[in-house]
Amino acid sequence: MKIAMIGTGYVGLVSGVCFSDFGHTVVCVDKDQRKIDMLERGEVPIYEPGLDALMAKNVEAGRLTFTRDLPTAIDGAEAVFIAVGTPTRRGDGHADLTYVMAAAEEIAKAAKDYVVIVTKSTVPVGTNRKVREVVAAANPELDFDVASNPEFLREGAAIDDFMKPDRVVVGVETDRAAAVMSEIYRPLYLRDFPIVTTDLESAEMIKYAANAFLATKITFINEIAALCEKVGADVKQVSKGMGMDNRIGNKFLHAGPGYGGSCFPKDTKALARIGQEYASPMHITETVIAVNEDTKRRMIGKLQDLCDGSFNGKTVAVLGVTFKPNTDDMRDAPSLTIVPALVGGGARVRVCDPQGQHEGEALLPGVQWQDDPYEASKDADLIVLLTEWNEFRALDLDKIASSMSRPAMADLRNIYSADVARDAGFVAYESVGRIGFP
Ligand SMILES: NC(=O)c1ccc[n+]([C@@H]2O[C@H](COP(=O)([O-])OP(=O)(O)OC[C@H]3O[C@@H](n4cnc5c(N)ncnc54)[C@H](O)[C@@H]3O)[C@@H](O)[C@H]2O)c1
Repeated sequence: MKIAMIGTGYVGLVSGVCFSDFGHTVVCVDKDQRKIDMLERGEVPIYEPGLDALMAKNVEAGRLTFTRDLPTAIDGAEAVFIAVGTPTRRGDGHADLTYVMAAAEEIAKAAKDYVVIVTKSTVPVGTNRKVREVVAAANPELDFDVASNPEFLREGAAIDDFMKPDRVVVGVETDRAAAVMSEIYRPLYLRDFPIVTTDLESAEMIKYAANAFLATKITFINEIAALCEKVGADVKQVSKGMGMDNRIGNKFLHAGPGYGGSCFPKDTKALARIGQEYASPMHITETVIAVNEDTKRRMIGKLQDLCDGSFNGKTVAVLGVTFKPNTDDMRDAPSLTIVPALVGGGARVRVCDPQGQHEGEALLPGVQWQDDPYEASKDADLIVLLTEWNEFRALDLDKIASSMSRPAMADLRNIYSADVARDAGFVAYESVGRIGFP
């Protein structure tokens, strides 16, 4: 089957590459010439483990191509996927649908034969119907269906998530569209991965409900962590004890500096906004958004305590700035709140991240980038572990402590422990939801 993928970001590129690996012929479109140039040279514009090899394999096999020209891409395609960004709209928290609607209109103007227009972007309930209206208005003659196919992949594990999903959600209105979607996902269906077929609205809602629920789970354990610190409990043990209950599960139950990334912040805000619009308030989600902001601020307080109340004149090494490991994505990362607070408070900040520098340079002005965590912590007054990259999980803490001017550590991912830090020579250690010292 021929498929066109509009947008070659984290979702569009991974989906396009994986669909081509299923055996479909895929043309990926992006309006960003720089990205298309890179892709045509065989370079991957984002960091996603394994994507370069899978992309090369399918380009080589002649199933995967890239273009800026949307009409060429959709010529003969039975399905056109919209995988463009839906960022938070400035001012009101709503999802900005400008890119989705622009793509829908472009598809409508270029399409000639029957096509299923599939929205993969995360969009508010009702968007697929609006897409249908936009397409029908732009090209009244066109024979088409719309489908909702929200994506659940996680950056850093995107290929595995796409190839071995917990489920694929497909919202359709007609048997004809359902047949096209079944054909696209047949390789997964044949391997017993469940396909959940719903109406358009339910598919759209599943995505927001799932993300808001996961953000709630993270935020819940972060709030429990704050209480653990007060009552002398250890949140790692609490998470373990809770997570072993099959009704709860151990995923998304790790206390940390607050959720970030390209999805949870914007999708929780959008869901809260949808609730307000329909006079059906999302109280839990609204509280999650507020508690997450408090959590990030609480981390700044911890760092301040470790710096004797003031960042002024201190040297701080920050290890990890991407919103999670194994991605270069900096969107809404907790580092974007925490690092500016350090810089603004007068600290000299050194930053080390295996993949974050390219994106981070523009977003974190006034910091010094270092490739090596040991160089970054030399003569520092504080080391902050902010993203749990594997590179930071087995550091030689003795070496770090002995090179620091005042060995203090803020372990905001609970990688180490107070005992380990004390034994290595640290004079102060703080983590999240556990008792530190002094
Ligand atoms: N990033 C994730 O982990 C993730 C996971 C699940 C769902 N999603 C959702 O998927 C959607 C895409 O997210 P992303 O992170 O891939 O976004 P992204 O910003 O990385 O990529 C979007 C791409 O679309 C391109 N684009 C925009 N309008 C276009 C047009 N008219 N024609 C051609 N190209 C166009 C942009 O140039 C950009 O390259 C969002 O709705 C997001 O919420 C993201």
